[in-house]
Amino acid sequence: MSSPPTIERAQVRANFQRAAANYDQAAVLQREVAGRLLERLDWLKIQPRRILDLGCGTGGALADLARRYPQAELVALDLAEAMLQQARRHEGWVSRLRRRRRYLCADAAQLPLADDSVDLVFSSLTLQWLDDPAPAFAEVFRVLRPGGAFLFTTLGPDTLRELRQSWAEADGFHQHVSPFLDLHDLGDALLRARLADPVMDVEHLTLTYDSVRALMHDLKTVGARNASAQRPRTLTGKGRLARMVAAYERHRDAEGRLPATYEINYGLAWMADPKPPPPLDTLPGAIPIMAQRR
Ligand SMILES: C[S@@+](CC[C@H](N)C(=O)[O-])C[C@H]1O[C@@H](n2cnc3c(N)ncnc32)[C@H](O)[C@@H]1O
Repeated sequence: MSSPPTIERAQVRANFQRAAANYDQAAVLQREVAGRLLERLDWLKIQPRRILDLGCGTGGALADLARRYPQAELVALDLAEAMLQQARRHEGWVSRLRRRRRYLCADAAQLPLADDSVDLVFSSLTLQWLDDPAPAFAEVFRVLRPGGAFLFTTLGPDTLRELRQSWAEADGFHQHVSPFLDLHDLGDALLRARLADPVMDVEHLTLTYDSVRALMHDLKTVGARNASAQRPRTLTGKGRLARMVAAYERHRDAEGRLPATYEINYGLAWMADPKPPPPLDTLPGAIPIMAQRR
């Protein structure tokens, strides 16, 4: 039996460290999705004092967050220091003078923030890089104040389906593309973390390309390299690559373009007021129920 796919965090960090300098040139989808997520803040009647941008990347959302909530302190957090350096570079001098922004290099699963210290956790296209969202959701639970909100986007399993299919046709191997969690698993994980009233929805966006090479180049530039532990470790032979490209060519649309589908999952959950006790298995020293049974 094959083991479930896992994502290697060290590899994710290395990929984004390398991508930081040129990320913005190719991050068309990321900008679009972050923009759509920011618009959803219009629905929320909150006045956050502190906002966490979880996986802020080069900081594309920070200026908008600062404009919407001028009184709030912004905490920009990312696993890759080089991404944070870019984000800091983009910060205007007015914002620097106001000193309402902090940059933290840390893992979403281990936030260097105090309990009940954040009113809004905003996160765009980061959660798909976590092997398991549960530890990060437990951290979101821990740091959110009563009444706080968690608003995020992540990628669903339909993402890059043309590429996945084309590789499968070329060599029968599916792990060329990172695995993605589906909407229901995410909703369940939010509830298990005791985040309240989760609402999830999905939309499909399609980017089109002249060539498979252009798509692969964009993926590489934004750091979206395969980080699954089961990814192929050997160099891809020319024959297999050519077979994959030939398979992808069959997706060419009426306008002569090659589509790349992205399944965008949007999520919103709240911290109940009063805050419930944390889930039992996240308390220090707690033994997960499954382990107790054995
Ligand atoms: C696709 S980028 C999105 C960046 C930004 N939110 C945007 O919309 O442009 C994903 C970001 O998540 C960060 N990331 C990945 N895994 C992470 C983790 N475990 N903890 C914190 N950040 C992480 C990466 O370093 C990268 O900057």
